[in-house]
Amino acid sequence: MESKLIAPSDVKKVAVVGGGVIGIGWVLHYLRMGFDVTAYDPMPEARERIASMVNDTWPLMEDLGLRPGASRDRLVIVSSLMEAVSGADVVQEAVPEVAAMKTKVFAEMDQHAPAHAVLMTSTSGISMTVIQSESKHPERMVVGHPFNPPYLVPLVEILGGDQTSPETVAWARDFYRLNDKDPIVLEREVPAFIASRLQEAMWREALHMIAEGEATVEQIDISVRQGPGLRWAITGPMMNFHLAGGPGGMAHVLDHFGPTLKEPWTRLVAPELTDELRQRVIDGCDREAAGRSVAELVAERDRCLVAIMRARDAIQIPAVGGSSGSGTGVHS
Ligand SMILES: NC(=O)c1ccc[n+]([C@@H]2O[C@H](COP(=O)([O-])OP(=O)(O)OC[C@H]3O[C@@H](n4cnc5c(N)ncnc54)[C@H](O)[C@@H]3O)[C@@H](O)[C@H]2O)c1
Repeated sequence: MESKLIAPSDVKKVAVVGGGVIGIGWVLHYLRMGFDVTAYDPMPEARERIASMVNDTWPLMEDLGLRPGASRDRLVIVSSLMEAVSGADVVQEAVPEVAAMKTKVFAEMDQHAPAHAVLMTSTSGISMTVIQSESKHPERMVVGHPFNPPYLVPLVEILGGDQTSPETVAWARDFYRLNDKDPIVLEREVPAFIASRLQEAMWREALHMIAEGEATVEQIDISVRQGPGLRWAITGPMMNFHLAGGPGGMAHVLDHFGPTLKEPWTRLVAPELTDELRQRVIDGCDREAAGRSVAELVAERDRCLVAIMRARDAIQIPAVGGSSGSGTGVHS
């Protein structure tokens, strides 16, 4: 396929289609990155909602740091999808999570966007193969799945559908990287992608526990906020277990705790802990550790952990369940 793509660094104008929670988040992010932004949402009240959220959140964007030329005045809220995407170099769609709607919106965006424009969907799990199925230029369509709020959380999950070109996937990765995001590229279509699937697993277990009267909503939130959630921001769940194994790392954790996967603690079906799976997990941790010992990783994690807890206490996020602050003794 002859590539019509422009360099990611040459992008000047971004269109955001859909002005709800995620669409407005993208508008803020792309304004902060210094682009001209057009936004479209058919609901009559959307115009006011987008404008006031952008105004209310702009001081935070300034605090985060604006790219040269960035201004909230570079937002134009338009009245048609055609107007939004004409002249756009990138389109970021954020309409409701309904496959038929996204498929139709993409076919329409495809009709009106310039030939070089890359069209991204914010979908949380609908297959790109489905979304691009009624478009004439499906090769330029790709998933760019953000996390709420997109103007703060760096992760974007990128993946194509059956008809997406590899150039488009690579382009999306480079574009997000250039613009303050930390993208991961999935090699194939996976239902619910990676991070949402992990969230869903925890969400499902939490609902089981609440339904069975085993835990309260507050206990679940405290258990994550004051427990593993603090560490996950630093290590991720896999390296967290690597550190939990002491000097023996992940190998020790799998051999020690692996058999408990069979305990009926979870409502999910536990995977078979085969030798191959065991090795794959250990190898992954070794790659991530990149030569750092468990002790070095622990020191690094602890430094970050203290900084996060201090930051949280400093802005006085009210603690759930009446406890005050982190209670960690790291305030001084
Ligand atoms: N909310 C989240 O935490 C989250 C996180 C990541 C991804 N997403 C994904 O982002 C997308 C949007 O989700 P949301 O939470 O912003 O939903 P939302 O309901 O807040 O916003 C959707 C907006 O799309 C508008 N809309 C409806 N039809 C449209 C059309 N034809 N053209 C343009 N706009 C149209 C609606 O008026 C509404 O304002 C979904 O695909 C969702 O899965 C959501």
